Amino acid sequence: MSGLARSIVVNIVVVFIAAFILPGADPVWAAGKIHQKAYGTTSDGKAVDEYMLTNANGVEVKIITFGGIVTSIKVPDRNGNMANVVLGLTDLKSYDTMNPYFGAIIGRYGNRIAKGKFTLEGQEYTLATNNGPNSLHGGNVGFDKKIWAATEIKDASGVGLSLTYTSPDMEEGYPGALSVKVVYTLTDKNELKIDYTATTDKATVLNLTNHSYFNLGGEGSGPIYDEVLWMAADKITPVDSTLIPTGALAPVAGTAFDFTVPKVLGPAIHSNDPQVVIGKGIDHNFVLTRPSADGKTMVLAARLYDPWSGRMLETWTTEPGVQVYTGNFLDGSLYGPSGRSYRQGAAITFETQHFPDSPNQPSFPTTELKPGKILRSSTVYKFLVD
Ligand code: GLA
Repeated sequence: MSGLARSIVVNIVVVFIAAFILPGADPVWAAGKIHQKAYGTTSDGKAVDEYMLTNANGVEVKIITFGGIVTSIKVPDRNGNMANVVLGLTDLKSYDTMNPYFGAIIGRYGNRIAKGKFTLEGQEYTLATNNGPNSLHGGNVGFDKKIWAATEIKDASGVGLSLTYTSPDMEEGYPGALSVKVVYTLTDKNELKIDYTATTDKATVLNLTNHSYFNLGGEGSGPIYDEVLWMAADKITPVDSTLIPTGALAPVAGTAFDFTVPKVLGPAIHSNDPQVVIGKGIDHNFVLTRPSADGKTMVLAARLYDPWSGRMLETWTTEPGVQVYTGNFLDGSLYGPSGRSYRQGAAITFETQHFPDSPNQPSFPTTELKPGKILRSSTVYKFLVD
């Protein structure tokens, strides 16, 4: 080979290595992987994708672009055995027609707004009443049923998925065109981080959350009565018979809601406490004793532990409240990938949030968003073993 030919070959090899091999080995990237595949088509012909995020420890999270639903979270027990610890359904049609919000992004307003009405800047707004006399989780077609535009993310913090949706002015009766971004990140510390941002072009109200139902023994493994809960909350917002807050903040001390020291869930779920009777179990907003002071730093809100598997879940958040719901309305008619049906107590949610019905409760932290401002909220579900 002539000297010129040799130097051309060497240059090609150098360019090839620089372009294709070095970036893949970039040390700032997390070890995780993300894979996309087609999940299905909605009844009105829209394509839905599934993204599988995997981290360095083999923890695996599946998310679909319909509702931004987290359909599966596989984490190890104390012996390294993996199980899916969230309830889910088996196909898109089920998520479209019969999902009690399993894994979904909730918006515009997580939980209830009394009688589907609120007044903002002197104007009364009317929402769909889809839960008895009240509006629940954003109305008839909430964010849990929207198709979200997805972009894959891979950076130092982990692998992730950025989901965006723009809700038009007056969609489901809410004012303002609202641009929402929800970023799911799976880190190598076995955390699923959820970062929410939103902007509006008119004053509005919103309360975004995720509605994953957790069972640390594995979905379909039976009730969570033996799981041990600790909450960093010394009050709840008690509710009336339609599950609307009375406006009071009630101390948990001496009640079934006192998880300020760790307790198994069964006795609380079966308690005759009048609030538990109204909720058919726990279905209450816990008020964090020491919420994030700056709205940016996350605080530890809850810790759930399954003594059988050793799996533990910590919920960290910038939000002031957490809706804890013990699957009280599950009646055995739904089942997930395990094929086992879901009954009352089959799981527990930690819906990090502002308080229910805040637009009608002047003493609660505000849920208003004005044009020119950015709503930011973050939550981490961190999986551990003990
Ligand atoms: C929230 C509500 C519950 C129930 C579930 C979804 O947690 O507070 O009452 O509606 O959502 O089924």
